[in-house]
Amino acid sequence: MKDQVLSFLAKATKLSSTQLETILEVPKDPTLGDYALPCFILAKEQKKAPHIIAQELAQTKPTNGITKLQAVGPYLNIFIDTTSTAQETLTTIFKQKENYGQGTSAKKETILIECSSPNIAKPFGIGHLRSTIIGASLTRIARTQGAKVKTLNYLGDWGTQFGKLIVGYERWGDAKKLKTNPITHLLDLYVKVSADPTLEEHARAAFAKLEHGDKKYLKLWKQFKDLSITEFTKIYQQLGVEFDVYSGESLYNTDKDKVLLDLKNKKLLKKDQGAEIVDLSQYELGVALIQKSDGTTLYATRDIAAAKDRQQKYRFTQMWYEVGAEQTLHFRQLFKLLELLGYTWAQGLTHIDHGLYLDHDGKKFATRKGKTVFMKDILKEAQELAEEEVQKREKLSGKEVKKRAQAIARAAIIYGDLKNNRTHNMVFDLDRFLSFEGDTGPYLLYAYARAMSVLKKANYKQSKVPKLTALTTTEKALLTKLAQFPEATLQAYEQRTPHVIAGYAFQLAQTFNEFYHAEQIIGSKEQTQRCTLVQAYTQTLKNALRLLGIEPLETM
Ligand code: ARG
Repeated sequence: MKDQVLSFLAKATKLSSTQLETILEVPKDPTLGDYALPCFILAKEQKKAPHIIAQELAQTKPTNGITKLQAVGPYLNIFIDTTSTAQETLTTIFKQKENYGQGTSAKKETILIECSSPNIAKPFGIGHLRSTIIGASLTRIARTQGAKVKTLNYLGDWGTQFGKLIVGYERWGDAKKLKTNPITHLLDLYVKVSADPTLEEHARAAFAKLEHGDKKYLKLWKQFKDLSITEFTKIYQQLGVEFDVYSGESLYNTDKDKVLLDLKNKKLLKKDQGAEIVDLSQYELGVALIQKSDGTTLYATRDIAAAKDRQQKYRFTQMWYEVGAEQTLHFRQLFKLLELLGYTWAQGLTHIDHGLYLDHDGKKFATRKGKTVFMKDILKEAQELAEEEVQKREKLSGKEVKKRAQAIARAAIIYGDLKNNRTHNMVFDLDRFLSFEGDTGPYLLYAYARAMSVLKKANYKQSKVPKLTALTTTEKALLTKLAQFPEATLQAYEQRTPHVIAGYAFQLAQTFNEFYHAEQIIGSKEQTQRCTLVQAYTQTLKNALRLLGIEPLETM
């Protein structure tokens, strides 16, 4: 419908549809029309006051499903034939079901999305949670636009920290502790070694030995890695996240000579106090360190090798790195280096950055009472709080309590994150995330389940849309909102941000609330028509929540 309005306006104003799309608004108050065109832009060109232009446009004969044009100040308000549009919207939703909201704008794209990428032998920090959640949602969003998408988890399983861990383990390691509580034990060792400056040299030497393939060290490293992955997998299960590919920095340790050679051939490499660097200062990107003076490789070197390998393996048209904003310089350097190496596919690389989780004081949320926050503990706490809440509401079997609590905890954490623009810092507040009121995941689950219970009570089994009769204001508002879902998914894809979908889901639930409170559904003359609306609402809300990675509960 919007397209028809745009093409009508394009004819009437001589602006292009794309231009118009950026300025066309949806009035907050639905009595002011379905769309509104602010006429300021036209004023300059036509050398007339905006309100005069609005008045003139209001005289145009409405076509394209538009029923009325009205000038209010500098705005042209546009009314569309809601009943036939509504009929169309509902028919589309009933036909497309779980596919409603899909588009085709990315159908030519093959996108590799790198996300999560925690560091082995370190706790799965809360920082990696953002990347996990946002990456998983963007994967679904890109898929709804027709892209072929693969997700890849690039484990931080190589680097100088392994030198420290090996040195620590050789000194104070405890095989039993490593088995029972690997991450905590490894973290303890890491902290202990880091606290002792005399061990620094040993750690560096140990890592160099590891890079040169020392058998004993490699075996230890592999053990640390396997145990860590087992721990991480538990977290992913709880969040309902899966990856198509597990990769890691260690795979690219041996490719370093090739990277160095390529850079040398392009005359990019420079020696600097024994280290190999590329000077990127002419691009205002500082200096990229490629090889340390002791011959060991660096994060950036491995990233160059990894990007080339991924292009060969997956032939992506785009690759998205979902990584915190603190690594912005690293990625800008990486993309520049790949471009200078002559790889045209480097144009398709994007750093999808995100802000930090903050605590209540506005400080980085990484510790609590001076202790590192473990993701495992956060998830456990969320599960327990959700169980309490479920038990308060209803008497259920232990198994059912657990099942519902898991869905609630998951929705709380995922939605708590995704409702924010990913580039912003946000306060990580579990209690607020878990609240059943306000803009939260549990509220949306509840909004879904409540509508499902209406359909059940009404014994609604209709699979066809009836011929609609006159619509009330709240029915119209709900239908307008429902019709906007495909626009929201497209926008979320174009802006690479799930918060558009989160915001849409919340507004949809609120619009439904208004309808639900204003209209009688069961026992009314319009029962069938209204149940059809409820059905379309549950389907659309479910589709939106799924795009965020949230699976709604049928009863709650
Ligand atoms: N493991 C890294 C970290 O935790 C993130 C990896 C980001 N991805 C990349 N290709 N460099 O900081």
